[in-house]
Amino acid sequence: MALALIATAGALASAFEVQRDIQGPIMPNSQAAGGKGPKSILSQLYNQLSGTYEVFNGTETIWQRPPADTPLKGILFFAHSCGHAAKDLWPRTESCPHCFGLPEEMNITLHSLLRGYAVVAVSSSNKHENSCWHGLWGPRDEMLRRTNERSDWVKARAALHHLIHREGWQQVPLYALGVSSGGGFVLGLPMVMPGVFSGIASVVTPAFPTHFQEYMRHYDVDQIETAWPPTALVHMARDAVLSGVFKLNMAELQELEIPALEVPVYPQPLTPLYLAQRCVPEVDETGSMAIYAALQKGGFINAEGYLNANPRLVTAWRDMIINAGIKAAGGGELRLGPEASPISEELNLLYASNELTSEALTDILDFFEKALAATPVEDRAKGITGEYLEWV
Ligand SMILES: *[C@@H]1O[C@H](CO)[C@@H](O)[C@H](O)[C@H]1NC(C)=O
Ligand SMILES: *[C@@H]1O[C@H](CO)[C@@H](O)[C@H](O)[C@H]1NC(C)=O
Repeated sequence: MALALIATAGALASAFEVQRDIQGPIMPNSQAAGGKGPKSILSQLYNQLSGTYEVFNGTETIWQRPPADTPLKGILFFAHSCGHAAKDLWPRTESCPHCFGLPEEMNITLHSLLRGYAVVAVSSSNKHENSCWHGLWGPRDEMLRRTNERSDWVKARAALHHLIHREGWQQVPLYALGVSSGGGFVLGLPMVMPGVFSGIASVVTPAFPTHFQEYMRHYDVDQIETAWPPTALVHMARDAVLSGVFKLNMAELQELEIPALEVPVYPQPLTPLYLAQRCVPEVDETGSMAIYAALQKGGFINAEGYLNANPRLVTAWRDMIINAGIKAAGGGELRLGPEASPISEELNLLYASNELTSEALTDILDFFEKALAATPVEDRAKGITGEYLEWV
């Protein structure tokens, strides 16, 4: 008991110390998120989210396209982080009974759809090792040498190929966005699938230094025809160890004249309505204000709403919510488990430590669209073409 207390105090103290170095600007709540009001686009339109669950040769794939009369602007392939899966991007519906609906994921799906993008999420095959993706690290030759028919990238490629051909999306630009383990995965994809992706976005995982140079070396000497795709890197202020690697990545991309976007994410304050704007349908306005009050009373947030400690390490926030007797909207239990809780996800994001964020999506899609428009047609990525047609 005493030891646990000391450990907690220690974690709190070190959290305070780090805080001094990571302070960034306060980002006002976006219009999409509801500004100062309780209703976000997500909280009003999440009913439009309806994933189609399919299994292609053992690979779990969930997807949705914008309404049939909307021309498709692009396809966004999403790669989850460890401990997560494709089911997090959609709420539970008849067409996806196992969907789990986490807020940042669902907001990415919704805003991609609203902009005319189809969203395709695939689950990694590795159920035993916490659902992390098979790493795509190292030089291209080595990645290819390590590949077999069970490799995640081969399975993801087969699923994408099957779906894109069946739905007739071959002419539509294909982009990839991944978070954490999924970020490393999507940063590896152009190495093994050159000329396929029109843009890559990684949230919280940088590429190995010299990764882009390595690709461009093959571009120069091998048969690779398409330059490394435009790349967006989203990193969080508290992932301090990684920030140096992100800097190296950005310098490398700039030197190679590859269009690059850097999006830093800073700690933000919790507001009384913050969770109602995001954790739909689980947290309503009353619940959101009650949680805010409970965390304030328990000292988990300071007077301005900033988190006083890392919610992954100091989990007292759970007891504060439970002890305050707060229920989900409609009366059920709130989901509070690690990596399986809307509230937990939002607290991690507010703390700006290793979490998915949908905040950067607008910037990322703007960046992809601008980069595509600036690329001469003959130099653009070709998407998934007919070369893997053996898989039906
Ligand atoms: C959802 O994503 C959009 C687009 O990036 C962003 O503007 C908004 O703040 C996000 N969150 C909510 C709750 O709308
Ligand atoms: C289905 O997956 C298995 C193993 O993952 C692989 O050996 C096989 O070639 C795949 N089938 C097709 C038609 O691609």
